[in-house]
Order: sequence, then C-alpha cells, then structure tokens
Amino acid sequence: MLDAAKAALRKAVRPVTFSGAGLSAESGIPTFREAQTGLWAMYDPMALASPEGFATDPELVVGWYNERRRNVASAQPNAAHCAMAGRQDIVHVTQNVDNLLERAGANDVVHLHGSLDRDKCSGGCGHREDIDLANPLPLRPCPLCGHWMRPDVVWFGEQLPRVGWLRADQLAAEADVFVVIGTSAQVYPAAGLIATARRADAIVIEVNIEPGATPGIQLTGPAGRIVPELLSL
Ligand code: APR
Repeated sequence: MLDAAKAALRKAVRPVTFSGAGLSAESGIPTFREAQTGLWAMYDPMALASPEGFATDPELVVGWYNERRRNVASAQPNAAHCAMAGRQDIVHVTQNVDNLLERAGANDVVHLHGSLDRDKCSGGCGHREDIDLANPLPLRPCPLCGHWMRPDVVWFGEQLPRVGWLRADQLAAEADVFVVIGTSAQVYPAAGLIATARRADAIVIEVNIEPGATPGIQLTGPAGRIVPELLSL
C-alpha cells in the first residue's frame, strides 16, 4: 500500500493534503474528541467551542482556549509536520487551529477552522489582534467597539472563513492525489472535501491510526511515522 501511495504521489501534478487533529497528536496536542483532561474534564468541548458557550461564560471559554494556546506554544512540530513543510510543492489544507505546520516551515497552509494565534472582535466590527500563544491575553473588550474579543476560530454552527473554504474546495476539485491525514472526517463542510476530491477522480490516500474512516489507499499507523515515509522524494 505504501509503495502504491508513493508511486501515485510521484506522478501527482496537483497533490493536496487534508489534515485533522491526528496530525498534531504526537506533538502532545490532544485530539478534539479525546476526553478533556484535568480542569476541563467536567466541560463538554462542543459547548465550550460554540457561540452559545461563549455568550454564557466568555471568561471560561477564553480560559480554555488560553490553556490550549499554552499547550501549542510548548509543543514541537512532529516528523509529519516537518515532512509536509519539506514539500513546498504540496498545498496543505488543515482543520487544525495550531501553528505547528507553519513552525515546521510550511508557508502555504489553508486553515479551514481558523487559528489560535489570533483574536477577533465578537461583535463583528472586524478588529483582529495577533496572540502570543505562550502569553495569551485574558478576556478583554474590543478597543474599537467594546464587544468581547474572542479566539479567531470557527465554532460549531458557525460559517467557515469564506476565502479559505473557496480555495480548499477548488484545491480538492482539482487534486489528482488527496492525502487525508489524522481526521475522523465527521465534521462538515470540511469533511466534504474528500468526496469532492473523489468526484474529481483523485487518488485518495488515508493516513490514520484507525483503519477505514476514508475508503482509498489505507496507510494505517501514526502520522509521525507514515507521513515522512510517504512524502520522502
Ligand atoms: N496519527 C494518525 N491519526 C491519528 C493519530 C496519529 N498519531 N492520533 C489520532 N488519529 C486519528 C484518529 O483515529 C481520528 O480519526 O485522528 C483523528 C482525530 O479525529 P478528531 O478528534 O475527530 O479530530 P478532527 O477529525 O480533526 O475533528 C474535525 O471537528 O473537533 C472539531 O473543529 C474541530 O477541526 C476539528 C474538527
């Protein structure tokens, strides 16, 4: 299977990767659906990552994201991030909100669900501020309009950033090889990119520790071991 996948990638003209939380798991970033640990064990992540959760308790939600920010700041890119960053000929589309691909040197990453290293005004005035992940800022009002500032990430029930989505959808529709890395492919519209690639007759390669989420060439095992083998030239 690995040889078939490598052969397909060698012939690829428009290869694209599409990744989820499993890509960063070996860097110590818990996947979204793993039981929350420690202080957060009592909270439902789906409630925290939602406009309703933020409206109910903005300080709690910002505190949870700031904990995740510090976790990302102290994490290191793993061998999969580094292998992907080494392939500047491949566009990387990710559902992840961490910056580990960029820290590994990737310079063209499409973040479908936003990024932890930015805050935006919750009132929609458009004000944004970069965030130092190691020293995130507490809950604070937007300096322009007074609404609370919030993480610039996509919450359940929210629209994806339009530009990023349109680009990702076009990349999937034009891909000839679509490498799906570390995602349960349960959250739409992002997961729909796989079907879009398949409709365009792309060869779909899936890297996952669990076999079977996405029909295609199945490479079962940790991304940190498989992705470097797969992407080595
Ligand atoms: N290597 C490869 N795959 C892995 C690894 C690993 N080391 N560890 C876990 N996985 C796989 C799991 O088998 C699972 O299929 O990664 C996937 C993680 O799935 P989820 O936790 O559902 O994360 P994800 O698919 O990214 O979720 C999609 O939904 O949670 C929301 O907005 C959030 O972007 C996220 C989206």
